[in-house]
Amino acid sequence: TYSSALQGRKVVITAGPTREAIDPVRFLSNHSSGKMGFALAAAAQSAGANVTLIAGPVNLDTPPQVERINVISAQDMYEAAERAADHCDIFISAAAVADFRPVQAAEQKIKKKNGQDDAAIALIKNPDIVAAIAARTELRPFTVGFAAETEQLQAHAQNKLQRKNLDMIIANDVSLPDSGFNSDHNAVLVIDSDGCERLAPALKTNLARQLIDLIASKAL
Ligand code: PMT
Repeated sequence: TYSSALQGRKVVITAGPTREAIDPVRFLSNHSSGKMGFALAAAAQSAGANVTLIAGPVNLDTPPQVERINVISAQDMYEAAERAADHCDIFISAAAVADFRPVQAAEQKIKKKNGQDDAAIALIKNPDIVAAIAARTELRPFTVGFAAETEQLQAHAQNKLQRKNLDMIIANDVSLPDSGFNSDHNAVLVIDSDGCERLAPALKTNLARQLIDLIASKAL
């Protein structure tokens, strides 16, 4: 069904994983495919929004009429998000951003030493992108986060909603089969100050339309 809930609104969405360089040939990352965020971008565009999609390294086509900004690292995504969020109405953080990065990316490929049996990588915290947007006092969009959890879904998501000062959080249990990372399907809880709503398991494309309608009804 055609919705015009976001006619003329500007929506910024992050999607996919980030890559945190260890050296020129190695990185830390995760299993995010970008499907959830890309489905949200397509749904927001169909609802009439002007959409900017900030994408980590993924193998997906850009939805029609969506402006795409490609990034690699969490730091790059942070800078792109801060710029894009300045004049948007809604910010949705579907990306699986690495919480930490190697303190220093080695300039040359790291060689193993003769007889070396173990190794360690020192990590430092990345900026929290969605928390930075939600902490704004000026030019603050309606800010929606995701929570990827493997246990205590509602409690952990509720905690992130409050700690990051979000307007809404979409919680997915990423330990369920055929759900969460890389699947075409997902099952989510939507939590905001009005309470908690469970959406039935569905295709991400279908869930994205439901989520965009819900976000539009709360944000505007
Ligand atoms: O990409 P797919 O394969 O389709 O999978 C979809 C998904 C499982 C990745 C997606 O539905 C999802 O849950 N995205 C958020 C993943 C995540 O990193 O969750 P988190 O609980 O670690 O982070 C909480 C929130 O803070 C998220 O909105 C995240 O984007 C944001 N965050 C986290 C760390 C950081 N440094 N900056 C952030 O903005």
